[in-house]
Amino acid sequence: MRTAVIVLALAFCPTALAAAGPGYRLYAANCSMCHGTAGAGIADKGPSLRGVGALSADFYLRTGYMPLGHPGEQPKRSSPAFPPSELDALIAYVASLGKGPPVPHPDPPRGSVAEGSTLFTEHCAGCHQIAARGGYLPGATAPPLDRATATQIAEAVRIGPYVMPSFSKRAITNRQLDSIVAYVEYTRKPRNPGGWSIGRIGPIPEGMVAWLIAGTVLVACCVLIGERARK
Ligand code: HEC
Ligand code: HEC
Repeated sequence: MRTAVIVLALAFCPTALAAAGPGYRLYAANCSMCHGTAGAGIADKGPSLRGVGALSADFYLRTGYMPLGHPGEQPKRSSPAFPPSELDALIAYVASLGKGPPVPHPDPPRGSVAEGSTLFTEHCAGCHQIAARGGYLPGATAPPLDRATATQIAEAVRIGPYVMPSFSKRAITNRQLDSIVAYVEYTRKPRNPGGWSIGRIGPIPEGMVAWLIAGTVLVACCVLIGERARK
């Protein structure tokens, strides 16, 4: 009888279920050393997870950003550290720690690539480059956006992971976010809008090649001018 009452209570209270279930055990073994007991946070190790919601847990775990190796390093995309059922359990547990935003459901076909291009130029290109292929910042790398799913793009915009700023629904509405996602997906389709493509390997190596060629020509000019002057 008592077991039946407990089972019923757990079934009707998702928070209690998450707090007692496999998510709790996975959290205790893999996350609590940095994020503290029940997600309270630990100074200089990991921020509080109370109220970050399923949105943030879904992003950080499914991108493989977490668990982090060392507290100070930049989270990097890699294969998720847990199989799908454990990811679900961990996300449910983190979401149960406080009231927070759910996983968003962007709908890129509802957006417009043209509007997305304008918004991306204004808000994102400063770090990720207009072609969404990433770039370097002081002390951080803005990753290329070719692997993030539509959901992860929407999540990143609301969270602002690491040094990226977060954008509220007032700064970027859900409708505008649909357009931004549509634009990021558009940048993945191969196009060569002119210029000399060196295998579409990105703006940093392409820039380096440009400087290498320009630099060699300039040095050659200097040598030639120098030789003439000596004569
Ligand atoms: C100040 C620089 C900056 C701006 C502005 C910025 N980002 Fe970022 N973004 C970053 C950095 C740095 C990361 C890596 C975060 C990390 O490692 O935890 C990132 C990560 C991301 C990711 C995750 C990519 C992945 O696969 O790991 C997405 C998606 C993203 N940003 C989209 C956007 C969009 C869309 C905008 C504009 C609305 C934007 N960012 C504006 C710096 C920026
Ligand atoms: C070595 C320490 C460390 C470990 C282990 C670790 N984290 Fe983190 N976590 C951090 C740090 C530091 C940040 C802040 C990163 C940033 O600025 O983007 C963070 C950020 C996060 C965030 C984003 C919080 C927010 O404000 O939106 C979530 C969610 C998260 N971690 C979940 C987890 C989970 C779940 C685990 C276990 C599977 C885990 N972390 C393991 C150090 C750690």
